[in-house]
Amino acid sequence: MGLEKPVLVTGGCGFVGRHVVLRLLKMGYDVWAVDDLSIGQHPDLWLPKEYISRFRFFHQDIKEFLRKEKLPEFGDVFHFAAVVGGRANIEGNPLAVAQDLSIDAEFFSWVVKASVDRVLYASSSAAYPINVQDKKNAEALSEEMIQFGDILGQPDMTYGWSKLTGEYLSKIAAENYGVHIACIRPFSGYGEDQDNTYPVPAIAERAARKEDPLIIWGSGKQGRDFVHIENCVDAMFLILDKIKDGSAINIGSGRLMTFEEVAKKFAEIAGYTPTIKPLVDKPEGVHTRYADITKMKQVLGWEPEISIDEGFRRVYEAAVERIKNGS
Ligand SMILES: NC(=O)c1ccc[n+]([C@@H]2O[C@H](COP(=O)([O-])OP(=O)(O)OC[C@H]3O[C@@H](n4cnc5c(N)ncnc54)[C@H](O)[C@@H]3O)[C@@H](O)[C@H]2O)c1
Repeated sequence: MGLEKPVLVTGGCGFVGRHVVLRLLKMGYDVWAVDDLSIGQHPDLWLPKEYISRFRFFHQDIKEFLRKEKLPEFGDVFHFAAVVGGRANIEGNPLAVAQDLSIDAEFFSWVVKASVDRVLYASSSAAYPINVQDKKNAEALSEEMIQFGDILGQPDMTYGWSKLTGEYLSKIAAENYGVHIACIRPFSGYGEDQDNTYPVPAIAERAARKEDPLIIWGSGKQGRDFVHIENCVDAMFLILDKIKDGSAINIGSGRLMTFEEVAKKFAEIAGYTPTIKPLVDKPEGVHTRYADITKMKQVLGWEPEISIDEGFRRVYEAAVERIKNGS
């Protein structure tokens, strides 16, 4: 992709969006970011001044933005605008999350008419059938478990349904309209600046405060596949170069880690030995969710290089810093 056209990042002030915007600016691109700031942070809080001249921010609902008559030709388009939130939102607010169907319907209607070089659609591991993620039937989730026209299971709540629909729309955009588009299915992305409604930063902060007992949501036996956000971003650029037919690829580490193990790891980093206390009345989602990374390794020739030890240490240090600054 040449540097002459601007890159569009929807949801550009959210957790994933911020990392992609900064990476693109570092690479020399002009970036347009659209975000209604329902969750996202205003760029004044995170954008280094050196990039201001190459960055345009639209504080707007993405649906309104895309209805603008005159938009430039974009190079790549990264679509992250979505109602997400942590597990409490996904289970407690399913119809708010279903707004993603309307965001994506508008996005795809626009993308097939617009002049864009390539599109990255942020799907999720939540698109996978939940019946292979329970206690008895847990399996590493591989891409072929979702096959349009053949195998489709029940995804995770309205969030998973919207992502599955988004993947289907991506396939249609590629096959019927010739759009170069790739889907990613990130597992549990985490990072230093992630919102505390997500488990990794929340547990890190409790450990940084040396809380005892150290609280975790759910039974603590539920497991996820954690992958550092910078590694997710690395993968996105590789994927855009390799996939154009709307198909999807996992982004994960392939390693399953229970919430109990997450808490123990942060306690170890913090240098104390608290009692780990599961809050069983809090939602925990599916029991076991982790990636089969065979396709990711084959197609991208890549694996995440930030280890859990390194990534969690960074998140812990950021939590210590926030506490020190009273933020
Ligand atoms: N973080 C992860 O590990 C992860 C995992 C799987 C999938 N994803 C997907 O990646 C994308 C980004 O996730 P995230 O973790 O950055 O979430 P996020 O909530 O931090 O970011 C989403 C952004 O979209 C904005 N937004 C919401 N509705 C909007 C609208 N109508 N118009 C404009 N902006 C709007 C929000 O303000 C927010 O800044 C989502 O599609 C999500 O499903 C993320």
